[in-house]
Amino acid sequence: MMRTKMRLLAGVALCLGLAATQAGAEGKPSDEISKYREMLADGNPADLVELRGEELWKTARGPKKASLEKCDLGLGPGVVDGAYAQLPRYFKDSGKVMDAESRLVHCMITLQGFTKEEAIKQWFSKPGKDSDIEALVTFIGARSNGKPIHVPHKDPKEAAMYKTGEYIFYRRSGPQDFSCATCHTSNGMRIRLQELGNLTTREGAGTAMKSFPAYRVSQGSVWTMQHRLIDCIRQARWPEPEYLSDAVIALEVYLQGNASGTVMETPGIKR
Ligand code: HEC
Repeated sequence: MMRTKMRLLAGVALCLGLAATQAGAEGKPSDEISKYREMLADGNPADLVELRGEELWKTARGPKKASLEKCDLGLGPGVVDGAYAQLPRYFKDSGKVMDAESRLVHCMITLQGFTKEEAIKQWFSKPGKDSDIEALVTFIGARSNGKPIHVPHKDPKEAAMYKTGEYIFYRRSGPQDFSCATCHTSNGMRIRLQELGNLTTREGAGTAMKSFPAYRVSQGSVWTMQHRLIDCIRQARWPEPEYLSDAVIALEVYLQGNASGTVMETPGIKR
């Protein structure tokens, strides 16, 4: 099965090259992107990651030899269905607004007894080194499929995070004087083959947010939203934030707020 997936991927990589060179001659690059999205629709390599995530969720692990099945992702202990679509949200027990990834790590610490360092050591995969977090978040995300994103940020702590996220989104800084808005507020703009989308509108933010975690063909791996945002902060030439930092969660509250009402469809496929 793995070998079939690898062959499939090699084919996609080939098409990607062709799509890039023939884009001018054969319609818009976005058409080409939707073509290999269609090709992968029957076999998104992220489906395997999702299965591994489900297995990990149910397996007793860590010093406390416990599974994650009692983890409260915001809808009550053990409720996974629909939880991702309503994150980030405020959690009384930690006194913090948490996204899917920080909440998952919270459960790995409190239920399974891992230290934070152990839990986040491999927060994204590298060739030959799988990431448990990536797999678990892919599983959690997919269990919201068909559910509308719902992050109303009504709680005062959530409202404050939304404001902070909005502020960071428009704040220009760094050696290039970039903000997120520089690259992400016009319609129809793209870099390489990827349409950037207007993240201040429901449609633009929705297209992005509903499909994360997503399989990135160019990277050959699944990216979580934390990974996506941390990399964009790097693209903005700003200092790189720590994994799970409040700045990243604030951006997520802002973007999920904008995307609210769009229906989840993950793992997506991205350039
Ligand atoms: C220099 C331009 C640039 C800046 C600045 C930038 N990004 Fe991006 N962003 C990109 C590119 C390019 C992609 C598409 C991925 C790719 O092809 O590499 C992307 C993708 C994204 C996506 C996923 C979109 C999707 O549909 O999958 C989100 C969300 C995002 N960026 C948020 C942000 C935020 C928040 C900031 C500010 C911290 C930011 N970006 C700053 C260039 C930028």
